Amino acid sequence: MDVILAEHAGFCFGVTRAVDEVYKQIDKASGKKIYTYGPIIHNETVVSDLEKKGVRVVESPEDLKTIGDGILIIRSHGIRKEIHEKIKDMGIEYVDATCPFVKRIHNIVEKESAEGKTIIVVGSATHPEVDGIVSYVSGPVYVIETLEEAEKIQFPEGTELYIVSQTTFNQNKFQEIVEKFSNSRYNVNVVNTICSATEERQTEAEDIAARVDAMIVIGGAHSSNSRKLYEICSKKCANTYFIQTLDDLHLELPKAVKLVGITAGASTPKNIIEEVQNYVRTIF
Ligand code: F3S
Repeated sequence: MDVILAEHAGFCFGVTRAVDEVYKQIDKASGKKIYTYGPIIHNETVVSDLEKKGVRVVESPEDLKTIGDGILIIRSHGIRKEIHEKIKDMGIEYVDATCPFVKRIHNIVEKESAEGKTIIVVGSATHPEVDGIVSYVSGPVYVIETLEEAEKIQFPEGTELYIVSQTTFNQNKFQEIVEKFSNSRYNVNVVNTICSATEERQTEAEDIAARVDAMIVIGGAHSSNSRKLYEICSKKCANTYFIQTLDDLHLELPKAVKLVGITAGASTPKNIIEEVQNYVRTIF
């Protein structure tokens, strides 16, 4: 059985950096407790491994009191500006593992809103990354997720709009929303802040799924980017399987299957991908 493993499977650069930071801090903590602001990643295996190593999750600004002389790690999505300030004011030792691509958006919206522009963040208002971005805006700000929402909003003629995007937003939907505003009589500035990691992962998965006899997508049950990968691959390959870990893999493949493709969502650790890959290579 031949296997094609996607190069862009699993953690993106920002998540790798944040997770590595937690393990690095565990190694050098010298007895200090490690905390993360929110789960470092939406993957049960990683979070429970960290829990076993003593890492605790802080869920709200009130919980910051419990940290004492521990070390807090800010995850790749980033956090709200006032929480960041509170952490500094309280003198908590912390490591900011906010992805630099997210940090860039904070800096953009902070500067542009201070100069009087109305900020539009294209993304999901309930996502922690967007919540963080919005907190850096000092003037008017709107979060828009759909074209219908964009169509409902009206600004006075000549309003200076500055449009950015959640890093994981869909490229086509972003363009549609941008066009809606560009076709009106506003003064529109756009910075496409979508991160290429998601798109690269999806394009590569689609390409592999089109070439193989069976495709395995590894990802968390609640991970929307993993489900999206599954959807994309299913359209190209009828034998597409969605699993969380190797334990879910009960393959009964038709005899004609010679080539298997493997990809994984952004929250899947390398060791799970390797386990699945080794297993597939050995069983057939
Ligand atoms: Fe990952 Fe940072 Fe992009 S967290 S998806 S590399 S914005």
